[in-house]
Amino acid sequence: MCGIVGFTGTKPVKDFLLEGLHNLEYRGYDSAGIALLLDDNSLFIKKRSGAVDVLEDALHETDMPAQTGIGHTRWATHGAPSEINAHPHFNADKSLALVHNGIIENSYVLRESLEAEGYHFVSETDTEVIVHLLDKVYKEREDGDLLQALIDVSKVLEGSYAIVLLSSEHPGELFAVRNGSPLVLAKHDDGAYIASDVIALVSRVKHVITMDNNEFAHLKKDGSVHVYNDKKEELEHIIQELDVNHIPLDNGEYPDFMLKEMNEQPDVIERLGQDRFDAGSIRLDGLNLSDEEIKNTDKIFIVACGTSYHASLLAKNYIENLAGIPVEVAVASEFANQHVLVTDHTLCIIVTQSGETADTLAAARKIKDLGARVFAITNVLGSTAARESDGVIYTKAGPEVSVAATKTFVAQIVAVFFLALFFAEKNGRLSSEEVLSHLKDIQDLSVKLGEVLSKQEDYEKGSRFFAQAHSALFIGRSLNYPIASEGALKLKEISYLHAEAYPAGEIKHGPFALLEPGFPVVVVIPHDDTRAKTLSNIKEIRARGAVVLAVATQGDAEVEENADFVFWVPSVPPLLTPLISVIPLQILARKVALDRGQNVDRPRNLAKSVTVE
Ligand code: F6R
Repeated sequence: MCGIVGFTGTKPVKDFLLEGLHNLEYRGYDSAGIALLLDDNSLFIKKRSGAVDVLEDALHETDMPAQTGIGHTRWATHGAPSEINAHPHFNADKSLALVHNGIIENSYVLRESLEAEGYHFVSETDTEVIVHLLDKVYKEREDGDLLQALIDVSKVLEGSYAIVLLSSEHPGELFAVRNGSPLVLAKHDDGAYIASDVIALVSRVKHVITMDNNEFAHLKKDGSVHVYNDKKEELEHIIQELDVNHIPLDNGEYPDFMLKEMNEQPDVIERLGQDRFDAGSIRLDGLNLSDEEIKNTDKIFIVACGTSYHASLLAKNYIENLAGIPVEVAVASEFANQHVLVTDHTLCIIVTQSGETADTLAAARKIKDLGARVFAITNVLGSTAARESDGVIYTKAGPEVSVAATKTFVAQIVAVFFLALFFAEKNGRLSSEEVLSHLKDIQDLSVKLGEVLSKQEDYEKGSRFFAQAHSALFIGRSLNYPIASEGALKLKEISYLHAEAYPAGEIKHGPFALLEPGFPVVVVIPHDDTRAKTLSNIKEIRARGAVVLAVATQGDAEVEENADFVFWVPSVPPLLTPLISVIPLQILARKVALDRGQNVDRPRNLAKSVTVE
């Protein structure tokens, strides 16, 4: 979840490190630091608690010609967010400095044995264990082979990690290992680059190499990059072109990335619809499944976390409803302890925007080991999920910077809807004409999303009311229960207001006790066959004096009469109501968060990709 960046070459490195850290800040922002190799081959280290800006201010006066360095932006796991715990960490004589992403699971045992040997620790982090262990192994070798020392140390480390290492004894060189947490490399005339995410490199290079697990890299200032396995055999790697057009480095005319990304949703829908519609029928090329395999599928497991879990709940509804295949959905972190029954005809689908969520990847590996084939729905080209799966559907929403998922959620819903149509056509449950008509409905949706997004000023009164609340309830039925859940998640993650979602019919079984005058309840009530029952729920809620904010279909006079606030959405086909109902909930969450003075792009304690279990 932290961000890593590094460079060695023939140009000053400091500005690149700071620029890279700014671009990576969405991955973690509780503290930041850099280490530079100075002309006298000593290491200069500067760290600060807080955002990259704080580090930048601290470095403002420093004129640094250094041409080799590493940087890090942290999301705390072991130890509080503080200057001491910030990376880079270094050994006692400051000849080694390293940055790390991930968790070292056996750090406690390693720390105890290093302390027994006289190593003195200054931080609470698991990362410091790595640098002292390297110090010990490297010095014991006496042959100056730092790459081999890194290979030896990685055999002792348990957990997932990406490490980049700088040494005063190896000027103009960087060393790295990837084991579970992503790293990309780039060769350039200026020098060699490394980062945890291409977004840190996009302004500098046009091509990257993605490291695989258990690979080691050696970068040199002449721009060369060598990748090795743990036997120190050099490996060939595919050099991939970066799609620079789709990597946003600033929020342009928008006050924040969240609003920018929300406003991109109509285009995302249009692009996805067009892609499949032009093809004349539903095409999911990345899936790599024969018609026979689809027909024989007896069960699908879908695993995911957070917002992607909510898209997975919709996937269950769509696939069971349209394609008639039983689907089980699990929260990835719970899946680890679940007894899972698979047959030769079971498929697993992981839904993950980042493609790097550790819980989701662990679940995928578990079900793969049981013999099921795994397919990924992800937004990130070349992500671990994409690389480790048997097939991939890309959501093509473009990079999402704001921590709260918005456009990628909408893209996930479209992707799982396509998947259901694809299976349904192959199973003979839908004709090509029916599939095309559904695809057309998706295309028409783009304009309707745009309409909702263009009326954000209509939300002021309702949002202001919620901004004063201490807690809120979100309810919805059937396809719109996952949307109520997504609305509650969005609200709590960026406004820090407690919110809980319930299936509308379930609130009588307990949550009703929460209702009192003024208590806020969001009710998602589209004009479909769930409306009548949900309308009764609204009346029951109002009878207890609670305040109802309804997300309802334009023109529904009965809802308007019974609700305190209404966020209107245009009428859409019943299966697609989640795609339109979620938009007002995103707008509500953002407005409430802003009213409460929060940074909507960087909610406290969260990071964009959660690469620890
Ligand atoms: C919420 C949010 C998170 C993610 C979750 C899974 O706005 O973004 O709940 O959905 O951490 O992340 P991915 O989809 O990258 O696996």
